[in-house]
Amino acid sequence: MAAPCNLSGSCIPSLFKKYLMALTGFVMVGFVLVHMMGNLQMFRGPDAINQYAHFLKTLPGALLWGMRGFLIVAIGVHVWMAILLTKENRAARPQGYLKQAVVRATWASRTMGLSGSLLLFFIVFHVLHFTTRVIFPEYQMEDYYTILEGDVVFNVYQMVVDSFSKPWVTGFYLFAMGALCLHLSHAVWSMFQTLGWTNKRTRPMLKGLARVYGWVIFIGFVVVPLGVISRILPPMMGDEEVIILSIEAEPFDSESL
Ligand code: HEM
Repeated sequence: MAAPCNLSGSCIPSLFKKYLMALTGFVMVGFVLVHMMGNLQMFRGPDAINQYAHFLKTLPGALLWGMRGFLIVAIGVHVWMAILLTKENRAARPQGYLKQAVVRATWASRTMGLSGSLLLFFIVFHVLHFTTRVIFPEYQMEDYYTILEGDVVFNVYQMVVDSFSKPWVTGFYLFAMGALCLHLSHAVWSMFQTLGWTNKRTRPMLKGLARVYGWVIFIGFVVVPLGVISRILPPMMGDEEVIILSIEAEPFDSESL
């Protein structure tokens, strides 16, 4: 009799689960790369990042929500398959093998569940932080809007700078990007294995490639918070400018000379 098909996924063959995991992982691998490159617009100045964010926000609704929906489904399926495969592996693993596998496994591979759970938490936090802006409701105020080529647009640049001026936010992001680097470096390698691309000859090269990818993504993301704390990415209106402007705004008093 065929296994009942429900959330336990018992009707899905293990190999198919692995393929689903690799495919949804690939969607996210692509997303983080594009997102990282988009974030680097911060270094081209406020107008560049604000224009880029405005362009994304004003995409036709069906396209924007189609992409968001696709990403949400990919994350959901990825997490679901991860849970099912972990359960299957635990059930199938003989006791003796356990010790041996732990010795051979890398730190990244052993902590996949932990880094993945942290990333899931990070993504929820991040969307509430930068997209819906409920964590810091001040980002919903009109101070965070600016004029760009005659249009009133949301000032993403200022929001990012103000966010990373809070040490706990920067600390949390740096920690989460570390987890992302660790997760990706094993995940990309694992994806190559699922696709059957790994053999004695390709193994060192593909392992290296996965590691390099993890580091590229890590560096590409952390340069933004680091740019803010080092003031390479200054506030749009820095404290000094506010002081100068307020001094200039004072009525001229000739007696004070
Ligand atoms: C330093 C690191 C990061 C920065 C500065 C950053 C910045 C941003 C900003 C500013 C937005 C909102 C754009 C807007 O609504 O105008 C955003 C959205 C988002 N980010 Fe990030 N991000 C970072 C890392 C990540 C990572 C590592 C992931 C995934 C693992 C991620 C996933 C997302 C998602 C899913 C959205 C929502 C996109 C949407 O609105 O549809 N971000 N990010």
